[in-house]
Amino acid sequence: MCGIVCYVGREKAKPILMEGLKHLEYRGYDSAGLAIQNKKHIDYYRAVGKIIELERKTNDLDIPGTSGIAHTRWATHGEPTEKNAHPHRDEKDNIYVIHNGIIENFHHLKKKLEKSGVQFRSETDTEVLAHLIAQNFDGDLNEAVRKTMSQLEGTFGLAVINRKTPGEIVVARRGSPLIIGVGEGENFAASDVAAMVRYTNKVVHLNDNELALLTKDGVSISTAQAKAIQRPTETVEWQPEDAELNGFPHFMLKEIFEQPETILNATRGRLEPGEGVPKLGGIIPVWDRLKECRHMVIVACGTSYYAGHVGRYIFEKLTEVDVEVELASEFRYQKLNFPPNTFIIAMSQSGETADTLAAIREASRKGANLIGIVNVVGSSISRETEAGIYNHAGPEIGVASTKIFISQLTILTLLALLLGRHQNLSLTDGVEAIKALTALPDQVKKVLSQDNHIQAIAEKYYKYNNWLYLGRKYGYPIAMEGALKLKEVSYIHAEGYAAGEMKHGPIALINPEMPTVAIVPKDSMHEKMINNIHEILSRKGPVIAIATEGDDKIKDMVEDVIEIPETLDYLNPILSVVPCQLLAYHCARFLNRDIDQPRNLAKSVTVE
Ligand code: F6R
Repeated sequence: MCGIVCYVGREKAKPILMEGLKHLEYRGYDSAGLAIQNKKHIDYYRAVGKIIELERKTNDLDIPGTSGIAHTRWATHGEPTEKNAHPHRDEKDNIYVIHNGIIENFHHLKKKLEKSGVQFRSETDTEVLAHLIAQNFDGDLNEAVRKTMSQLEGTFGLAVINRKTPGEIVVARRGSPLIIGVGEGENFAASDVAAMVRYTNKVVHLNDNELALLTKDGVSISTAQAKAIQRPTETVEWQPEDAELNGFPHFMLKEIFEQPETILNATRGRLEPGEGVPKLGGIIPVWDRLKECRHMVIVACGTSYYAGHVGRYIFEKLTEVDVEVELASEFRYQKLNFPPNTFIIAMSQSGETADTLAAIREASRKGANLIGIVNVVGSSISRETEAGIYNHAGPEIGVASTKIFISQLTILTLLALLLGRHQNLSLTDGVEAIKALTALPDQVKKVLSQDNHIQAIAEKYYKYNNWLYLGRKYGYPIAMEGALKLKEVSYIHAEGYAAGEMKHGPIALINPEMPTVAIVPKDSMHEKMINNIHEILSRKGPVIAIATEGDDKIKDMVEDVIEIPETLDYLNPILSVVPCQLLAYHCARFLNRDIDQPRNLAKSVTVE
């Protein structure tokens, strides 16, 4: 987590860095800081709280420097105070460092530095970097950073400036994202292209254990072993306005309303209606092995993990492949024993989630094939997997994930359909699936058109402190995702349960103070879900039902019903998650929560 942005060029650095920081705030927002170099002088400011606090502090200052580094923090070591905010400095105030990641051997390094007389000013792991780089500096900042990298264990995306080498920024990475933006007479670096896309769409991805020297006139990349690297620039597809609110009060709402387009983006050019077989160019490199695969493991975290859960049911329905779904954070601790030709699907919006990366590295060591389903082009997971499928969903900025979930479900369906059609799935089933997928964007629009109704339901219930979400089969992961959304953005306690588990414990919680959201589309689980709803109503528990249009049985039983259009059973989750997202959003809004940046969270979890 944490976001870093750097600029060196001819323009004043402060506005560019501040603007960049605002687009990185989703990565961390407990404190922020910047250091700007003007010849041999460095202006340096830090503030606790969101970027706006740093802005307040620096707004009226005319800072002339044209190169600098800036950081927004998500605390790992040391509380979010001003003294722990980045940049961190060496004792002589020459070296200024910003860092995203964790220096795992920092205790050992700190002790050694303290023994040599260094006095620390913060509780962070990052500060050791400033002292080490200062000790290793012998006239060449790039070499000082390279030498320091060899002393570090853990993860870092870092950027350094030095009072003695004006006009130079050195950046380095191991495990945390770092992208270089190449301009004319100016260059950038940041944790995410969103921070620089207004100035350049030409980027170069830095690989692990590489560093780069940025000046206004050029970028030189080299490895930690001092081997020079020539890497061509790539062009970023995102438009600057993708990262703006465009009239919506929050990114979360904007991204929920973008979802019809998200499905179109995930399917564009990939559907072959006549044959009922999708086209997925990104997996061609592994297709010979993939089409023979009978065992897959989806590894992911959080919302991506719940999408993986739905994916398992979709694969069961459409293919002959056995699919397991694993929490990436637990995966490495298991005894990994894969049948031959096992495929691991790493699924991640950011492509930088540390747990998911660690899981695929372990799986690769054990001989599994790796493919990625990733949104951020060029991210670590996309580069560490042999093949993959991009979501093409544009930036997701709201910290709570919404449109990516739907995109992941769409892509998992395409992949299952492709495999299924090479296995036993009939032409009729394939064609039916593609027809249903094609209808989804308009069906999602129909769900979104009930926003006012969903808001009214949220108004009725937002004061309740505990909620239950129930579903079966395809609806079970939606119950978990619905509960996660509610707790993340509204801070209301919510649990997502498999409805069949009710009688094994959670039913004890039911009372008039505990609303239950029942995911009850017309599918093979419908009757059983109706029984669960009866059990709740007879204990005076309020029920909000997400049901298929025209389901009179549900309407007769339940007062608050949100309708979704009819689709194939395995596509229901793409529709039933939308009311859950809107319910969470509106509850959070009634409670005045910080919807796009909920407390304690960060968008891209780059620490384990
Ligand atoms: C929930 C949420 C998180 C992420 C999780 C994985 O709304 O945003 O649970 O889904 O941190 O992130 P990615 O998909 O980037 O690997």
